[in-house]
Amino acid sequence: MNNVTKIAISGAAGNIGYALIPLLASGYVFGDRPIELRLLEIPHALKALAGIRMELIDCAFPCLTDVLCTTDPLEAFENADVIVLVGGYPRKQGMERKDLIQANTNIFTTMGRAIDDVASPDVKVLVVANPANTNCLVALSEASSIPTKNFCALSYLDHQRAKAQIAIKLGVSTNCVKNVTIWGNHSETQFPDALTDGYFLSDNGEKIPLSSLLANDLDWVSTDFVTLVQNRGKHVIEVRGNSSALSAAQATADCLKTWLVTGTQDGETVSMAVYNDKGYYGIKKGIVFSFPCECKDGNWYVKNGLSLSDLALEKLEITETELLEELEAAHNVLSKTSRFRA
Ligand code: LMR
Repeated sequence: MNNVTKIAISGAAGNIGYALIPLLASGYVFGDRPIELRLLEIPHALKALAGIRMELIDCAFPCLTDVLCTTDPLEAFENADVIVLVGGYPRKQGMERKDLIQANTNIFTTMGRAIDDVASPDVKVLVVANPANTNCLVALSEASSIPTKNFCALSYLDHQRAKAQIAIKLGVSTNCVKNVTIWGNHSETQFPDALTDGYFLSDNGEKIPLSSLLANDLDWVSTDFVTLVQNRGKHVIEVRGNSSALSAAQATADCLKTWLVTGTQDGETVSMAVYNDKGYYGIKKGIVFSFPCECKDGNWYVKNGLSLSDLALEKLEITETELLEELEAAHNVLSKTSRFRA
């Protein structure tokens, strides 16, 4: 069948994969476009994957044309139009951040090279596995035939978390809270920013700046709100006993939908961690950094010209420094490869 969108998911049998797959197979992201799923896993998880395939058959999703289960990235990514990289090496007790980067750099080198070798030249790649920004950087560095604009890492989850907390504070629907921004790394150094460009969209279409609605809560916005969003992933792990899966899958689906299907309208921005080739907002080039982005026709565009407060600039520098350290750690692992374009 022609015009089938081929979607590959790595780490497909994990918690996020299990919550994400139905969002893709049901048409939530791509509407009634026919889709084929390629589910990639390590050998140990292949049996669980076979069970997921059985369940997908039992759902009788009208737009799902085929489901492939494999341990081979070359098979999973062949001519793929969309690749979601969820599988990574999880942080274990006693592991330093640099150990995590080392283990994942090896995995994402393999992913990037497989993408380079067999995926569609127009493939769009979303990296979810942590450390997501640097994993994305490694993958795009290795996939040198694919434009860097075709990659992003997930900061949409943090974006939704920030929107939700502002909506709770104001007692309004999340849908009315627009243009909050996550700047930087998907980690505890990120800067969740409600004030620079955030606004409340009223029923009659009026855009009221969050800076005026939150004028009596400015301390909260620059302290508790920031800490809450920065630490939300850790807090979910503490309470649930496992890292976010339902919300991570939903954010992954929403990110893909906004980026590749609906776009953004009327100056609305979403947060996406993208390759900084232009030095946006004075951030060093060559790292994957979350910015406010508009989306149109399957492309993202960093919104330029926002005026940042001194506090925001300070926070951006902190998260930039962490990303540069991650880059260095990844670079040390990759220094023997010639294709790393850091
Ligand atoms: C999250 O933000 O929920 C996760 O990235 C946290 C984690 O370390 O798994």
